[in-house]
Amino acid sequence: MELKEIVLKENELEIKPDWGKIFKRKAPLFLEIGIGNGEFIVWIAKKNPESNFIGVEVSKKYLRKAVNRVVNEGLKNVRLMYIEGSKFISKFLERETLSGIYINFPDPWLKKKHKKRRLISQPFIWLVADRLTLEGFFLMVTDCEDYAKEVAELFSECPAFLPLWDSPVKINLIDYYLTKYARKWLSQGLPLFYIGFKKHKRVEIPEWVYKFYPLAKFSEEETLPENILEVNEKVDFFELAKKLPRGIVWKREEEVIKILDIYYKEDGILIDTLVVKGFLKQRFFITIKLYQGKKIIIAIHDSDKPDITEEVHKAIIIVTLEIQKVFKNSRLVKSTCKRKFFEPLQSELLHKLKIEDKISKLEKF
Ligand SMILES: C[S@@+](CC[C@H](N)C(=O)[O-])C[C@H]1O[C@@H](n2cnc3c(N)ncnc32)[C@H](O)[C@@H]1O
Repeated sequence: MELKEIVLKENELEIKPDWGKIFKRKAPLFLEIGIGNGEFIVWIAKKNPESNFIGVEVSKKYLRKAVNRVVNEGLKNVRLMYIEGSKFISKFLERETLSGIYINFPDPWLKKKHKKRRLISQPFIWLVADRLTLEGFFLMVTDCEDYAKEVAELFSECPAFLPLWDSPVKINLIDYYLTKYARKWLSQGLPLFYIGFKKHKRVEIPEWVYKFYPLAKFSEEETLPENILEVNEKVDFFELAKKLPRGIVWKREEEVIKILDIYYKEDGILIDTLVVKGFLKQRFFITIKLYQGKKIIIAIHDSDKPDITEEVHKAIIIVTLEIQKVFKNSRLVKSTCKRKFFEPLQSELLHKLKIEDKISKLEKF
């Protein structure tokens, strides 16, 4: 098998694809999140040649090791991908398509202030409940007792799940592969904690979960948001760049838009933008450049391909409105941004302007 068939690229894969086509056969599908050096996925895929396995990893270094292992073993039932686990589930899996999820030693984030970075959270469990088939399972092993208890409690609270065993947490699981991390902790005499749950009931994913996983609702590629402004005067990009805001420009529940930096040249501006919605963080450049004479276009830079969430639309609109603050006589002549976002953003900016105005009057006084 060719390497490009084994290692899937996020940008080349359609949203929620037909996995049967990708594996060239219909078979139960299993996912491992955080494959590390790939020893577990190789072991489980060899043991179950009748099933298909996907392994995802956020470290390129580990992914390379795992790819080598899969290639050396000549496995045809494994695909690997460089992507964050919950993003993979949201973006690339349809409802009830997954027969099981394995997570071996997820990063425990031990410090209290870091605990919210843990992969397994209440919204994650709802997402998993939606993507698992009936009777599908979730299996995790960790050396962190506190994390094990937290995960077991969260699963117990979700009506879709029942424990796989008499007790939701076990300290030994016969015939389960011991990965590098398992061997490390065991050699130090430390216990391991296995958590297992099975989906026994179909559930509707509650609406609030989408605030954390905006891609979970995606069904097809969205049109790229861009705006064209007619300015009717000479544009000095240097002056414009100085007037554009930096830092957080929009903040709502689970939603942040931040301008990290602004670069300018004679013929345009590049805005390094961070857009966060729940657990999805996306960073991309917005370009501002001349378009057909006295117009300027505000768009996502060609080299970037963020998922077009609502916040990406909002980022383009905010930059457009900020430019309109500078070019007061400018006119929006073309837009592929969602119209419904213009008004709330406009009134927010207007509100800010009034406050700025009041402050400057007070300062003058
Ligand atoms: C402690 S290591 C365990 C590796 C392997 N599972 C094992 O047992 O040897 C955790 C691994 O998960 C990866 N990882 C952490 N969070 C992830 C996420 N949200 N999605 C995908 N991979 C993740 C890390 O890069 C790392 O390789």
